[in-house]
Amino acid sequence: MVTVVKVGGSLLKLGPPENILADFCKALEVEKLILVHGGGYEVTEMAEKLGKKQRFIVSPEGMRSRYTDKETIEIYTMVMKGKINSEIVLALGGKGVKAVGLSGFDGGLILAERKKKLIAIDERGRRVAMEGGYTGKIVKVNPQIIQVLTSEGYVPVIAPVAIGTEGEPLNVDGDRAAAYIAGGLGADRVVFLTDVAGVMVNNELVKELTLEGAKASMRKVGFGMDKKLLAAIEAIEQGTKESIISAGNIENPITNSLNGESRTVIRR
Ligand SMILES: Nc1ncnc2c1ncn2[C@@H]1O[C@H](COP(=O)(O)OP(=O)(O)O)[C@@H](O)[C@H]1O
Ligand SMILES: [Mg+2]
Repeated sequence: MVTVVKVGGSLLKLGPPENILADFCKALEVEKLILVHGGGYEVTEMAEKLGKKQRFIVSPEGMRSRYTDKETIEIYTMVMKGKINSEIVLALGGKGVKAVGLSGFDGGLILAERKKKLIAIDERGRRVAMEGGYTGKIVKVNPQIIQVLTSEGYVPVIAPVAIGTEGEPLNVDGDRAAAYIAGGLGADRVVFLTDVAGVMVNNELVKELTLEGAKASMRKVGFGMDKKLLAAIEAIEQGTKESIISAGNIENPITNSLNGESRTVIRR
């Protein structure tokens, strides 16, 4: 089995969490794992320390995202690739895992198209057009670099940045990067570890969703979970058998996500 595990930024605020690292090592004994991480909170924190106020915009579909101008993509890349990725690679290395830090830049792993224009909804509910900045829509994943590494027992740890059509760095959503990597690799499943047990509707955990059910649920969830559901759907549409959304802040989070009761599983 090949499983892509995305560790949400919500779980990385205090550095790589021991519960995830320990369980990741255990799961590695029985399957191939690829780790993709987020880190939005730390990007915002570091940017503000550097005096660069971060701006978030909401799309007409209701998705919230970082407005990534030139200075912001530089900080984003420094924090994601330089800090968070390195910390995870060091922590796994310390446990004897042959972890290798990668980002979407390496070996042409994630190619994206820069959004020329963004439509945002302002405080009064009006549509406003904005410069696209350095945000990308993923167009292609070249998974060879991952296959070369995993075939030799190395474990890729991937930061969510992409290469634009003019060779420029682009910010891509971590959940969607994980989904496209799972799809490109032909992975069996993708797991999104986050700070909640799964998709909640009317205060109840939704344990299973079909692809259609997941699409219908998009309207019933808020910021954060909307992107995870979209990514879960994209992974299935690209051939992944299961997308799982589950808690990363519990004991043995990966074992629970793969075999436990408390999770949301999306299958075609
Ligand atoms: N219907 C929902 N079910 C579960 N979580 C939801 C829902 N709607 C919004 N959320 C929010 O989504 C968050 C997870 O997304 P996010 O903050 O982006 O985490 P991550 O860093 O793991 O990607 C949860 O903490 C929760 O506040
Ligand atoms: Mg998120």
